[in-house]
Amino acid sequence: MLPFSFCTVLLATYFATSLADVSPREGQVIASCLDRVGGMTYENAERLQRYKQWADNYEEFPCFTNCYLNKLSTLYKENSGFNETAVIEQFGKEVHKVCQRRLSEGRDACDIAYNGFHCLVTMLDDPFVHIDRLPNITTEARTVMKDCLRPYDRSLYNRIKEYSKLPTREPIRCYTKCIVDNLQLLNPINRHWNIASLRHHLNIRFEKGSMKHCHALTPHRKRNACAWVFRELTCFMQSKPK
Ligand SMILES: *[C@@H]1O[C@H](CO)[C@@H](O)[C@H](O)[C@H]1NC(C)=O
Ligand SMILES: *[C@@H]1O[C@H](CO)[C@@H](O)[C@H](O)[C@H]1NC(C)=O
Repeated sequence: MLPFSFCTVLLATYFATSLADVSPREGQVIASCLDRVGGMTYENAERLQRYKQWADNYEEFPCFTNCYLNKLSTLYKENSGFNETAVIEQFGKEVHKVCQRRLSEGRDACDIAYNGFHCLVTMLDDPFVHIDRLPNITTEARTVMKDCLRPYDRSLYNRIKEYSKLPTREPIRCYTKCIVDNLQLLNPINRHWNIASLRHHLNIRFEKGSMKHCHALTPHRKRNACAWVFRELTCFMQSKPK
């Protein structure tokens, strides 16, 4: 028997904003929905953790999703199907758009619940959907972010989520520089940041004093442009005005 927290990580994360405090109850619901396949065994919990890797059309624990959603969520009810308003509220309109067809596809309620929900949780991980969901950036910025990502190996795509933690090392090497160059956030001649563009495209606002402070972090600006561009931009983002 595993602690509930272990096996709930997988599904609970998707409801972090709407059902943030359901964890103990969610653990009970998950256990009861696994009754048909032997309950909350170690193997079942492990398998459930790989939910997102389950095949698109094959639910490894038959009817699990139908049971789970019916008991725990406002997303879906066995007799009425997915509630599109709730889907948009909880997953965003971009994910809804990609999964719309899957929300009603299937032979029966169990099939539909799995097809729809599996698509929703898988799509949340899609880096291009992630970019679409970033708040307060311009359409042009979104396009550039997507175009700059495409040339990279797909195995690196998931690292895009690490950017929001403002790490010291860039998760995808030179990705930021590509964005900065394409949005012309930095003057190529005098290498001054374009404060108006930073604000307009990326909604980055910072105190006047930060510019100097952030420059000071990268005294050797000439070397490795990818590194200092990332470092300074991250620094600006950390010094948002209150
Ligand atoms: C669908 O979800 C919305 C938002 O959560 C809710 O207000 C509405 O009552 C739901 N509709 C049905 C038919 O359950
Ligand atoms: C986006 O912009 C709006 C309006 O300026 C603001 O209220 C909101 O907090 C911003 N969201 C983020 C995540 O910066």
